[in-house]
Amino acid sequence: MTGTRPRIVVTRWIPDDAMALLHETGEVWSPDPDRQLPADELHRVVAGADAAVVTLRDRIDGDFADAAGPQLKVIANVAVGYDNIDVPALTERGITVANTSGVLTDATADIAFGLLLSATRRLGEGERLLRSRTPWSFHLGFMLGSGIQDKTLGIIGLGQIGQAMATRARAFGMRIAYSGRRRAPSEVEDRLEATYLPQDELLRTADVVSLHCPLTPDTRHLIDEAALRSMKPTAFLINTTRGPVVDEAALAEALRDGVIAGAGLDVFENEPEVHPELLELDNVALAPHLGSATVETRTAMATLAARNVIAVLSGEPAITEVTP
Ligand code: GLV
Repeated sequence: MTGTRPRIVVTRWIPDDAMALLHETGEVWSPDPDRQLPADELHRVVAGADAAVVTLRDRIDGDFADAAGPQLKVIANVAVGYDNIDVPALTERGITVANTSGVLTDATADIAFGLLLSATRRLGEGERLLRSRTPWSFHLGFMLGSGIQDKTLGIIGLGQIGQAMATRARAFGMRIAYSGRRRAPSEVEDRLEATYLPQDELLRTADVVSLHCPLTPDTRHLIDEAALRSMKPTAFLINTTRGPVVDEAALAEALRDGVIAGAGLDVFENEPEVHPELLELDNVALAPHLGSATVETRTAMATLAARNVIAVLSGEPAITEVTP
């Protein structure tokens, strides 16, 4: 870095450790960190930036880059998913894009497995029963859930988070099947004793289907009405990736009509909205996009984003660069 200090725009609140790193490197500009800025305001804020630290709610595209100006060198997304970013539009302008892969794997798999347990063992439903002061008493047929031992977890997308989910499921006695664009290395299949299946067979046979693929044009509404109808009526669906991978209206209908037994969702098609029918159903466990929401993980994510910015501004490659 030479000459004047670079201007680094940070669109939303990030942990202090990451802010401190950025302050050492440049002039940090974060005028409204507690509010999601609409595109026109975001474009005004980013004008003149050399680097931007952004979140998954910020739409980063050619217009954003043009609003920033030709000096923009790096976008650091504080997220592993980057469906909010038009990566080709940025890379063709010579702008580096980075995500935070690797540091939120366990936290996200923890939430996915928590939702699996919550849905199959009816934990949220039980809590709602108690909080509603409904009279209850223990008996042998009371609020029976579905056991998971010796059942098959079908993972769609056996990347880092999918593998971490599989590791948890194996510790609980589940069998692992997976589908995805390509087969995992044999070392991974062997370690997880994971069987590769075509997606239609996975949907037909799994007792729990957990989604760990990124949101792309190919995976939008991957789980639609037909996919839900192909699942077992006793099966559960877990989604911790991105809401639009599931057709939420079709899922609400399937849960209401008993097409599948239940679901656990951390992400929604039109966040922060949740399909109103889902809110009325007892057989769905819901969380407000908490996948990576631990103090440790958010600190690690923001620190990695800051280090990505620092690397690129120093003329080095980003640590976790995203390529088109
Ligand atoms: C969170 O959803 C992420 O992609 O990091």
